[in-house]
Amino acid sequence: MNGEHILVLDEGTTSTRAIVYGADGAVLHVAQKELTQYYPAPGRVEHDAVEIWDKTLACAREVIGKVGGADRIAALGITNQRETVVAWDRETGEPITRAIVWQDRRTAEMCGRLRDAGHEAMLQERTGLVVDPYFSGTKMRWVLDNVPAARELGAQNAGRLALGTVESWLVWKLTGGLHVTDASNASRTQLMALDGADWDDDLLGLFGVPRGALGRIVDTAGTVGTCDPQLLGAAIPISGLAGDQQAATIGQHCLQTGQTKATFGTGAFILTNMGQVLPRSSHRLLGTVLCQQDGRRTYALEGSIFVAGSLIKWLRDELGVIRNAAESETLARAVADNGGVLFLPALAGLGAPYWQPDAKGVVTGLTQGTSRAHIVRAAMESMAHQCHDLQAAFAADGAAWKSLRIDGGMSANDWMAQDLANVLGLPVERPADTETTALGAAMLAGVGVGLHASLEDAMAMGSALQRFVPDMDEPVRAGRIAMWQSGLKRHIDGV
Ligand code: G3P
Repeated sequence: MNGEHILVLDEGTTSTRAIVYGADGAVLHVAQKELTQYYPAPGRVEHDAVEIWDKTLACAREVIGKVGGADRIAALGITNQRETVVAWDRETGEPITRAIVWQDRRTAEMCGRLRDAGHEAMLQERTGLVVDPYFSGTKMRWVLDNVPAARELGAQNAGRLALGTVESWLVWKLTGGLHVTDASNASRTQLMALDGADWDDDLLGLFGVPRGALGRIVDTAGTVGTCDPQLLGAAIPISGLAGDQQAATIGQHCLQTGQTKATFGTGAFILTNMGQVLPRSSHRLLGTVLCQQDGRRTYALEGSIFVAGSLIKWLRDELGVIRNAAESETLARAVADNGGVLFLPALAGLGAPYWQPDAKGVVTGLTQGTSRAHIVRAAMESMAHQCHDLQAAFAADGAAWKSLRIDGGMSANDWMAQDLANVLGLPVERPADTETTALGAAMLAGVGVGLHASLEDAMAMGSALQRFVPDMDEPVRAGRIAMWQSGLKRHIDGV
C-alpha cells in the first residue's frame, strides 16, 4: 500500500471539497469550491455535472499538492449529495443534460400518478421510501422522457446512456469509465429493494429505467477501482463510497443500534442506526441502507428535512435580514421569544414526516411590533420543531432517541443547539470537528483499504463531544410546541 493519508471528496449540494486526513483522523488540508445553483423554473433545481467534476478534480489536485504528492495517499473516499441524477454518454464521457438535484420537485405530478395507481404501499414496503419527487427514480424517468439525447442513446440500446447519482459520476470520471454506485446511494433511487443485492426488475419496469444504464451496486467500504494516474498522479484505490448522510452517521460514530445523528447542511437529515433489522416505518419515515461491507448491510431509519442551511442562505440573500450566518445566532438571542411569529420553512416543499411537495413557506403572526430578530428567531425555532415532529415519528416506529448528535455548518450555532435540546427534551451532543460527513467517508475508505480493521477501529478518528442539556421550563416548551403544531396543521390542511 502506498502512503498513509486518506483523501476524501465531499461533494455536497452547495460546494465540493477535498480533504486529506492523517490515519489518526487529523485534518491535514482542505480545498473547497462553491457550486452554481440553477433554478430554471419554480420548483426546479439543477447542477452542471461538468462543473462538479472540474471543481472536484481541482480541489483534489490542490490538496494532493499540499500533502506532497499522490504517493502519500493510501485511499480515496467519496461522499455525496444523494438522489441527484446525472445522465451522461458513455462514449464521450460528457453529461447530456444538467443534473437534477434532490430538491427538484418537477416530478411531483408523476409521483401523484404513481400514488393514484396504488403503487405507494408496494414501493414503501420494498424500498423503504415514500413516493416523492425527492428520490432518483422519477428524476431518471423524467430525463428519459424529456431529454432527446437520452432517448436517442437509450433507443440505440447499445448501452451508451449512463444514469447515476453523483458518486457514480465521479467514479466514472476518476477511473475513466467504471460505472458503479454504492448500496447507500442505490437505496435512495427507489430502484433497489432494501434487502436486494441488485436492481429490482419490477421497480425498473415501473419507472421504465433500463438496467443497462445503471451502475453495478457495490459495498460502501472496499476497493472498487483505482484512479487514472494521469488525473491525480497515482493509481489511488477508491475504497469508500457513501451518501453524505450515511457517511455523517458513521463519522458521528453512531455504530450501535439506536444511536442517532442530525446533520444540518443544506437540509437537515436525521438517521438512527437500526442494525441489521430492515427498517419498516408506519409513520412516514424512510428506511435506508446505512452501509454495506462484504455484502452485509446495516440499515438506518431516516427523517429528511429539506430546508436547513438553505434557510439561512435565503434569509441572507433574498430577505436580507441577516448579513451572515453568525448573525442568525445574535438575532435569535436578541429577543426573549418569537413575539408570536411562526415560520414554516417549506421553501422546497416539506419532507418527513409530512411529505407535502407542493407546500410553500409561510410566516404568520406579524404585527407593527415584529422585528427582524423575531422573524430570524422564528426561522431558527422551526429547526427544533421539525426535529421534534420527527422525534415523535421515530418513537412511534420503535426507535426512540436517547440523545442526538448534531453536525453540519448550522450546528455551529450554539443557540440552535440549546433550543434543540430544550424542545426535544434530550441531551444534544456536538463534536469539536463538525465535518463528520467527510470523516465518515475517511473511516469507510480506511477500512476499505485495510488501514483500519473495522469501523469500530476507525473510531480512533474523531473528536470530543460538547453537550447541551435541556433547560427550558415545561410550560414554555409546551406553548412553543402547541403554536407550531396548530400553525402547521392550518397550513398543511390548506395546501
Ligand atoms: O438527500 C440529500 C442530501 O444528501 C443533501 O445533503 O449535505 O447537501 O444537505 P446536504
